[in-house]
Amino acid sequence: MRQPVRVAVLISGAGSNMAALIDAAKADGERAGGASHEVVLVVSNRPDAGGLAIAASKGVTTLTIDHRPFGKDREAHERAVHDALILADVQVIALAGYMRILTPFLVRSWAGRMLNIHPSLLPLYPGLDTHARAIAAGDDEAGCTVHLVTDGVDEGPILGQARVPILAGDTAETLSERVRVAEHGLYPAMLGEFCKGR
Ligand code: GAR
Repeated sequence: MRQPVRVAVLISGAGSNMAALIDAAKADGERAGGASHEVVLVVSNRPDAGGLAIAASKGVTTLTIDHRPFGKDREAHERAVHDALILADVQVIALAGYMRILTPFLVRSWAGRMLNIHPSLLPLYPGLDTHARAIAAGDDEAGCTVHLVTDGVDEGPILGQARVPILAGDTAETLSERVRVAEHGLYPAMLGEFCKGR
């Protein structure tokens, strides 16, 4: 049997997608045929990220590499993250609410091996405030996208999308909750497919 692909999840906050990725990989491992991948490390750029305690409670190694001591030198911070990933023998990165704009250093070092989830139906609404923008535009659906990370922000080949309706009276908060549920289904499925195909 093939060894599971070693995945690191990078977070900045609550880590609900990270938790879904960890749980799905474990469930996959309990099925016949074994896991296509395993979450071996969770890295946060924020020491107060809620996802750190969740990952630890699920038995996954966590690491905080605070971006603040690096000041404006984003690449130096990324080099520290990269070194930690290499040390942990990581093969694939899943960004899950990792709220940093990446430099070409990290993007190119992990080209074709770094996935992201974004809370909109890309190419619509790259960047922030996606739900408020979709509501303001009068859209009748929203959703989320899993894509490979390339140099442009929220660009890169799309691996999959999930759609949800925008309902009358939705606020950015109610819509984000609906999209979040869709994210928790989409991201584990896409990461699993991606790792199986490697
Ligand atoms: C998710 O909705 C994710 O799509 C979004 O941040 C949230 C993180 O939630 N990511 C981005 O906006 C990246 N551009 P989580 O920490 O509970 O997974």
